[in-house]
Amino acid sequence: MVEAASASLYSRAENAARTIRSRTGTDARIALVLGSGLGGFAEDFDEAVRLPYREIPGFVSSTAQGHAGSLVAGKVDGVPVLAMQGRVHYYEGYSLEEVTFPIRAFKLLGINTLILTNAAGGVDVQLSQGSLMVISDHLNFMGVNPLRGPNDERFGPRFPDLTEVYSRELQELVVEESRALGITARRGVYAALAGPSYETPAEIHMLRAFAADAVGMSTVPEAIVARHMGMKVLGISCITNMAAGISATPINHEEVMETGERVREMFTQLLRRIITKAPTSLT
Ligand code: HPA
Repeated sequence: MVEAASASLYSRAENAARTIRSRTGTDARIALVLGSGLGGFAEDFDEAVRLPYREIPGFVSSTAQGHAGSLVAGKVDGVPVLAMQGRVHYYEGYSLEEVTFPIRAFKLLGINTLILTNAAGGVDVQLSQGSLMVISDHLNFMGVNPLRGPNDERFGPRFPDLTEVYSRELQELVVEESRALGITARRGVYAALAGPSYETPAEIHMLRAFAADAVGMSTVPEAIVARHMGMKVLGISCITNMAAGISATPINHEEVMETGERVREMFTQLLRRIITKAPTSLT
């Protein structure tokens, strides 16, 4: 069904959810957004059904290298999941409503747990390239909020509380499971900037003074929208490089992608364990 662009966000999200359900038959309660270089996880799904974003009404396509641009429905050790293999970013020129539209559709599909992953620069010197950070909280330095504009109460309240954006229970689960796998995944604060340029050393210095541990250009809009709708959110950053000025070497996207590829096995094992253990019946 073609829906006019003037239709409400809610009815456009319903339309997208209908398409996803009819094309994939998914009954997933967990969805993942796979960040730069991390899309490989969806290649291992059982019974995978792939749906390009361009075939889902309201979804916009990713222009960033390393972001495949498909929704993949499948199973991980018998648990039904839905994954975005690649995300769209604010820096690509899309509005935050467009960037977060898939999350709205997921809610209407019955998703209640959202796992957001990203590639990020390490701001805290204790982090190392190739390590994982569990997001405990965020700093929104994008200069915009995805909830700006009319509010639809069917999604959530006008002034949502953000005291616990990232579920403590899920943070604990990641820390435990990574310990069991012999991976270090410490907790930390993720600062989101609009990009697309990487930061200056002075900006990284400022972010450190503001208690940021990692920096990136995504995740925060999706997390805010998911919490607006009462979803449980888990955020995991793959530290693909040390931030500007922390490391003396210039940052480039190839390095970001390569590190993502290098941690693939560890990342896959961790996500597998989280998916099979995450309680999804509580929201
Ligand atoms: N800064 C911002 N975004 C990033 C970085 C970084 O250093 N690395 C990966 N994404």
